[in-house]
Amino acid sequence: MDKWAELHRLRGVNKDRHILDLFDGSRAGDFTVEAEGMRLDYAKTNIDAQTRAALVRLAEESGVAEKRAAMFSGEKINDTEGRAVLHVALRAGEGAVIRVDGQDVLPDVRRIRAACAAFARQVREGVFTGQGGRITDVVNIGIGGSDLGPAMAYLALQPCADGPRCHFVSNVDGAHVHDTLRGLNPETTLVIVASKTFTTIETMTNADTARRWMAEKVANPAAQFAAVSTAGDKTAAYGIDPERVFGFEDWVGGRYSVWGPIGLSLMIAIGPERFDDFLAGGRAMDAHFMGAPFARNMPVLLALVGIWHNQICGHATRAVLPYDQRLARLPAYLQQLEMESNGKRVAVDGSDLATQSGPVVWGEPGTNGQHAFYQLIHQGTRVVPCEFLVARRGHEPDLAHQHLLLVANCLAQAEALLRGRSLEEARAIMAKKGLAGAELERQARHRVFPGNRPSTVLAYDQLTPFTLGQIIALYEHRVFVEGVILGINSFDQWGVELGKELALALQPLLEGKAGTEGKDGSTAALVGFLRG
Ligand code: F6P
Repeated sequence: MDKWAELHRLRGVNKDRHILDLFDGSRAGDFTVEAEGMRLDYAKTNIDAQTRAALVRLAEESGVAEKRAAMFSGEKINDTEGRAVLHVALRAGEGAVIRVDGQDVLPDVRRIRAACAAFARQVREGVFTGQGGRITDVVNIGIGGSDLGPAMAYLALQPCADGPRCHFVSNVDGAHVHDTLRGLNPETTLVIVASKTFTTIETMTNADTARRWMAEKVANPAAQFAAVSTAGDKTAAYGIDPERVFGFEDWVGGRYSVWGPIGLSLMIAIGPERFDDFLAGGRAMDAHFMGAPFARNMPVLLALVGIWHNQICGHATRAVLPYDQRLARLPAYLQQLEMESNGKRVAVDGSDLATQSGPVVWGEPGTNGQHAFYQLIHQGTRVVPCEFLVARRGHEPDLAHQHLLLVANCLAQAEALLRGRSLEEARAIMAKKGLAGAELERQARHRVFPGNRPSTVLAYDQLTPFTLGQIIALYEHRVFVEGVILGINSFDQWGVELGKELALALQPLLEGKAGTEGKDGSTAALVGFLRG
């Protein structure tokens, strides 16, 4: 029996039902789930109790519980790369034991975390210095998972960033490294080269540039470099003192790596204790994910809402809309987490996927987005399921009135998407403005909001390290559950390889060292135009 059939049937039956009609006295409570003070409200979706039960059955029949146990116990579920998937080990609590190939990995995790913490303290306290004295600035050079996690979290946790300033260089575009280094003093700057493989061309090129920049003023630039990598041999060949190399294992995927040494810049910025709070938030979400029944399990439900919207209703994108300016980089972070994980057309067994792959994820913080793309969300022909995030409290008590406005806007957008505005209501507004006849009719039609557009709200007390840990772990597990249901290996990323290979092959063409024979006409012509 097709595991999707019942959900498609329910969709067919309920297609034209208005979400508002689902609200009885208990819906808001029934379709809200809480975990450690965090609340996910999915009442404003067209999911009723019967649909939820069918979605939960889908998760059960897809083997989510079994795969979850396999992941947490260190089985090699990333089977195109033959690796375990153990980012959860990076935040595991005291007393936990997780084995890979029979070996408990946690003693090493703790040892490296302690080494990172010791180094972070030395930098923060001025024990480790640059040639010009106390470190004022840290430049993290990395890309993808070696950049997005710490960069997103550094911005998110600004209220507790009391260490040196951090900067993040990722793009191979020289403008990025140039503009970042321009204002910095090489004598008081620490460069962290963050790369799991230590071969990524963007990162190694930017690291070379930073080293040359430092060498102009600093006698021994290598002394102001640290590295985070799984490739100890390569960091040594690069000349970085093993004392300042923080390793991790290949069972940590790049986009899941912020919890470990890749988070070093963040740890220096906020301090090891607050970094521990961040880990504790992730760990709390892990415990919830492991323990709560599917129908009350936040990551499972968020995944099921996503499956319902994308695979069943056919809404190809989802917008992530943090009403929290400091989560401005969360959509970019989630683009990698979700799209690199579940943007795949082949199932684990090599067969074609039976359904669509994961959705296109995009977004910007509110209220800015309201003045940009919300027009399409409200009145465009496509439905875009929206995921709002909002805190009860900001970090600026003297600006509480602004926070209140922020929250009001967030709730208003979700309400507007739900409720819409009928033609009748629009006509009444136009009549009040003194319009009549055909002109009233024409103008009214432009002011109709179809409504019945789904959204969820993730609400939390305040954006602290703990809360941020919860949010990231929530999304990680959501991606995992969606991947299991789709039958995807969420932990490889073969789709990034072809472009890398072709870029390498194009370099000599752009340098004029090789001809364009064999290239398609368009590429050949563009090489001709762009050749320096
Ligand atoms: O190109 C994709 C990717 O492999 C990501 O998965 C990864 O996060 C990023 O590149 C950076 O890789 P590395 O940490 O090895 O430099």
